Amino acid sequence: MARIARLFQGVVVAALFAVVVARQFSLPSTIPSLTSCLTEPVFYSCENTTTISDACCSPTPGGLVLQTQFWDTYTGLEKQGQLLPRNSWTIHGLWPDFCDGSFTQYCDLSRQYDPTPSPNTTNGLPNGTVVPSYSGPGVDTFILEFGRIDLLDYMNKYWISQGSPNKDFWAHEFSKHATCTSTFDVACYENYQAHEDVVNFFDTTVRAFQMFPTFDMLAAAGIVPSNSTTYTLSQIQTAIKIQTGATPFVGCGGNGTVLNEMWYFAHVLGTEQYGHFKPVESTTDSTCKNSGIRYLERTPTSEREVRVFP
Ligand SMILES: *[C@@H]1O[C@H](CO)[C@@H](O)[C@H](O)[C@H]1NC(C)=O
Ligand SMILES: *[C@@H]1O[C@H](CO)[C@@H](O)[C@H](O)[C@H]1NC(C)=O
Ligand SMILES: *[C@@H]1O[C@H](CO)[C@@H](O)[C@H](O)[C@H]1NC(C)=O
Ligand SMILES: *[C@@H]1O[C@H](CO)[C@@H](O)[C@H](O)[C@H]1NC(C)=O
Ligand SMILES: *[C@@H]1O[C@H](CO)[C@@H](O)[C@H](O)[C@H]1NC(C)=O
Repeated sequence: MARIARLFQGVVVAALFAVVVARQFSLPSTIPSLTSCLTEPVFYSCENTTTISDACCSPTPGGLVLQTQFWDTYTGLEKQGQLLPRNSWTIHGLWPDFCDGSFTQYCDLSRQYDPTPSPNTTNGLPNGTVVPSYSGPGVDTFILEFGRIDLLDYMNKYWISQGSPNKDFWAHEFSKHATCTSTFDVACYENYQAHEDVVNFFDTTVRAFQMFPTFDMLAAAGIVPSNSTTYTLSQIQTAIKIQTGATPFVGCGGNGTVLNEMWYFAHVLGTEQYGHFKPVESTTDSTCKNSGIRYLERTPTSEREVRVFP
């Protein structure tokens, strides 16, 4: 009881502080200017019958959008406090595939913030353009430049890296994928402020992640982490398909026996930022076996309850 009371006391103080701060400041915008889209036709990406004339209005050519998630059992950086969110999968990213499932990466090296580019050339081959590694301020400082403590807090809870600091992983996802997504092009922002596209992409990825609550969808179908049970691939696929209407990519490690990834494919009406995601079938075959799939319980010391007041 005393703990709860103290918690509420803290919340009241934080709320009062927030009111005072909110009255004094307003945060800079990270919204693209889409007024030129008002007179464009409306369609789902990869389903347009006419040429898309303004790439800020619809992701093109990367119109097959993937919201990708991980199920990890540890982070490797537990000692630094990098823990997984209890009862939730984590964000991997938001990727712009071409309509056929192929893709490009690191499309704008002037927005290269990834400390360890992977692959290290734009095409992953020795003859590709070298992606230089980045050693400037972390992208977490970009989020703070725009005052988005709320976004940073959410990302530190749900966008978790394994084996590297979270902020390096976020930078990787932005520079590898968002620079190939037309709706985050610098030209889409009026009076562009450096890094507003980065913050806008992070907000967008969080929104897309929240459309696909993997842990809850699986749990609702009786599929929960267990170190003593196994599941079939079709059980997992069906549990998702009855909620989203489409089969996601289901990824496994351990020779196809340990569930660790889910990719939700979608066509998008309007922009990734604000538009409607329509799930479509995965273009990638599952890497899981048909049966005997383990959905591992996490190491207890690798996770924490995040659904508490900040
Ligand atoms: C949609 O428009 C893009 C860009 O103009 C074009 O490359 C693509 O072929 C079109 N897609 C379809 C399915 O018509
Ligand atoms: C890229 O990585 C490969 C494999 O690790 C390495 O052999 C190659 O030298 C690297 N290329 C550059 C340009 O750093
Ligand atoms: C790069 O190398 C690959 C494989 O060796 C080849 O298929 C491709 O055409 C080359 N690309 C360029 C731009 O030279
Ligand atoms: C996967 O299977 C191969 C061949 O059966 C085996 O050599 C390898 O050790 C297995 N790897 C793992 C991670 O279980
Ligand atoms: C479940 O098994 C995995 C893999 O062996 C292990 O890392 C994890 O700690 C186990 N979790 C629990 C709660 O026993």
